[in-house]
Amino acid sequence: MSTPSYSFPPGFRWGAATAAYQIEGAHNLDGRTPSVWDTFAKTPGRVRTGENGDIANDHYHLFESDVALMASLGIKHYRFSISWTRILPEGTGAVNQRGLDFYKRLLDCLDKYGIEPQVTLFHWDSPQVLEDRYGSWRSRQMAHDFAAYAEVVVKALGDRVKRWTTMNEVGCFTMLGYGVGKPPQHAPGTVVQSHQDIWQAVHHAMLGHGLGVQAIRAHCSKAIVSLVDNTEVTVPVTESPADVAAAQKAFTDSWINGGVCMPALTGQHPELFLRHKGADAPKVQAGDLEIISQPLDAWGFNNYFGTYVRAADNEDGYETVPLPGGYPKMDLPWLSIVPDAAYWGLRHLRDVAGFKGQFFISENGCGAADEFGADGRINDLDRIFYLRAYLRQFHRALAEGIPLEGYFVWSLMDNFEWSFGYAKRFGIIWNDYASQKRTPKESARWYSECIRQNRVV
Ligand code: NOJ
Repeated sequence: MSTPSYSFPPGFRWGAATAAYQIEGAHNLDGRTPSVWDTFAKTPGRVRTGENGDIANDHYHLFESDVALMASLGIKHYRFSISWTRILPEGTGAVNQRGLDFYKRLLDCLDKYGIEPQVTLFHWDSPQVLEDRYGSWRSRQMAHDFAAYAEVVVKALGDRVKRWTTMNEVGCFTMLGYGVGKPPQHAPGTVVQSHQDIWQAVHHAMLGHGLGVQAIRAHCSKAIVSLVDNTEVTVPVTESPADVAAAQKAFTDSWINGGVCMPALTGQHPELFLRHKGADAPKVQAGDLEIISQPLDAWGFNNYFGTYVRAADNEDGYETVPLPGGYPKMDLPWLSIVPDAAYWGLRHLRDVAGFKGQFFISENGCGAADEFGADGRINDLDRIFYLRAYLRQFHRALAEGIPLEGYFVWSLMDNFEWSFGYAKRFGIIWNDYASQKRTPKESARWYSECIRQNRVV
């Protein structure tokens, strides 16, 4: 009998992902202090719905039933993040044992259900106290304070956790938060004077990543260390050699790539990035790039969409092709459906950035306009359509020899979708925020079957 189509190798890690501020709630319990997201969400006009993460999914109290539900779907891997201000309420210094105890309870519960943790140390929730003290990632000091925080967490939880991620999506908490001459619209940050200030913040975050990798390795010898990045994917309009070469070149300086994945994986800022950014490029001190490009065991690729590129007769040799108005989208303004980005992202990370370790998909998923049908179920066939299309492209990469070892759907359940509040739903499990009742959607049933058969069904 032939292998059924779209099969993954034995041991492929099927998982689901969340992040602390988006689900935990318990914003002022057991010693936690505000993060920049608490402040931002409570600033009128910042979150479109006026909502915040004070209660969110109340996962802080409901984690046991959430883990049991995850296990009932067959999910064997869970990616979540740690809240910095639960652990270090002052951002630095005194450790809050009650904060660590929460994550110990969660990890013990995961262990009881045979679910392996994949822990992200930082998913955007910088301590407000460090924002007030020195402007958070605008200061180089933040990189050192992040590494000290990482050390505390890894020392305390390193016996329970093997798979560590330093940070999630550097581009989002820097680029979207710092506005030149105007306050941030989509994420916490400040008004800055120039784009150089923003690239400098990116550089500080990357330095924090590198120092964080060192801290993890120093205190957890079995650690499998990764960075999670929403690498911007340049998709060739056609797979002609000329368009593929154009997409590969464009990749080195598409959105944040020149400041994030390229220096992390090659130890250099690409030539194209330096030429395009000119005086806005970050100021780099001797030794920084060595720290930033610490060897990684794994690369966490977050993928939602991509940018089309083709060869062009101009100085750069490529041009990006804007999406036409009628291009298909999911239920968010930025969420165009570009399944080929799933494949090309992995290809570029291997062939252009040269990553030789293991890849995992740390996030993939979509917001959909979910509703209960007449049958009382949420038949989110559009989400299944989206996920299936992307998974087939991840599979293509694997079939072509790219070492992809896991996939985490975003998200386990509907949650606080940052500046869109609770209005946008990314979960394969519905959350009713009034009752905190969780209801698996049809996509959860579909995903569970993918796991059971170890293939895209
Ligand atoms: C990426 C982020 O890591 C996550 O927090 C967010 O909810 C999803 N994208 C969807 O926007």
